[in-house]
Amino acid sequence: MNKEEMLSVDVSMVKGIDGLKKYEPALKKSWEKLQSGQEAFTGWVKLPLHFNREEITRIQQTAKNIQTQCDAFVVIGIGGSYLGARAAIEMLVSKFQRKDSIDGTHAPKVYFAGNNLSGTYHYELLEELADKDVCLCVISKSGTTTEPSVAFALLKELLIRKYGKEGCRERIYAITDQEKGVLRSEVLEEGYQSFVVPDDIGGRYSVLSPVGLLPIAVAGIDIVEMLDGAADMAAILAQSETAGDAGFLAATRNELYHDGKVIEVFEYYEPKLQFFTEWLKQLFGESEGKEGKGIFPAALQFSADLHSMGQFLQQGNQIFFETVLHIEKPEKDQVVPKSAGEFLAGRSMNAINDAAMTGVMQAHYKEGISMIKVDIPSLNAYHFGQMVYFFETTCALSGYLLGINPFDQPGVESYKLEMREALTK
Ligand code: PA5
Repeated sequence: MNKEEMLSVDVSMVKGIDGLKKYEPALKKSWEKLQSGQEAFTGWVKLPLHFNREEITRIQQTAKNIQTQCDAFVVIGIGGSYLGARAAIEMLVSKFQRKDSIDGTHAPKVYFAGNNLSGTYHYELLEELADKDVCLCVISKSGTTTEPSVAFALLKELLIRKYGKEGCRERIYAITDQEKGVLRSEVLEEGYQSFVVPDDIGGRYSVLSPVGLLPIAVAGIDIVEMLDGAADMAAILAQSETAGDAGFLAATRNELYHDGKVIEVFEYYEPKLQFFTEWLKQLFGESEGKEGKGIFPAALQFSADLHSMGQFLQQGNQIFFETVLHIEKPEKDQVVPKSAGEFLAGRSMNAINDAAMTGVMQAHYKEGISMIKVDIPSLNAYHFGQMVYFFETTCALSGYLLGINPFDQPGVESYKLEMREALTK
């Protein structure tokens, strides 16, 4: 592994981090606890180092079959059962070429359903799919979540109308618990092809399991590269008693939190990162927000949001710190033509984008705001794997330092129960 190819953290613009040494004993203990394999829902820690090769081959084979079977692949799921896959696909497949995979072989266009309860969204999706060859991938650990259950029922009807009951069965792929839940029972009854959501991995930590890997592979992304990136990050962090940059970032976040910075604003200058920050919001929000504690995760897309939220950041209530996701080597570029005027003509768009980032960071730092920068070498499957593992580790350690359990989500369960109650009235 080449060190220059590793994601890294820059805290040179963070105010008052001299106090980080005091976190070392707790970090060491937390990192040992995470790596021990003894804690519930920490299966993701060792996952990239010991992934099941047979399962990966089966995922790749199934993805190949799906690619030839359909031109529209609908991923049904919500929260941890969909955000990781969407983050990877939006990041790594060109928005304008969603019909071809990145290596040029045919890959279906990927649609998402069951992540909202909008009748309009699902009506329009069904219209869009009317003249397409469709396959479904339904993902739910519990098998009982309302949003994906409703969407699955609707889309299954569409498949039955198109291909009949028999044909429909061959176009449904399910990812769910090994034994429990109605979805598993349906898999057994109908004979759908299926994969298992590992028992010891919670939804928001599951993107490197079949939950994320099957849809990502169908979109034509190299999942082995992705797992390699995660494994290299796992190996680097494991070399340190305090989890290297991940531990350092966890301590920095806690220090800022105790200094009254209760909001973390994730900022990015590359629109392809939009769903990665949605994934980050869930990861940190659901992991840390409990027992009256937690840093509220927000995300802003720059430079667009500089024209809406820039004012607040510069001069508003400073209850936040900023975490900038910086892509060191963007994939492509454009040279600005003469007609844009003398000042900009001939410059690279990426250089202008970088100047915007430097300008914003300086302006906010001068205002007294702490700015963390996460340098990501480039956007590809390998670095996506690194990013996932790095932030999962940061989040889990950060949660432990905060004194909460980063692996449960009792609040999400309460809303599900209340919603059922409301529906029975
Ligand atoms: O991270 C989590 O645990 C949640 O976001 C779940 O993934 C989400 O609620 C969906 O649950 P399920 O996979 O059981 O449908």
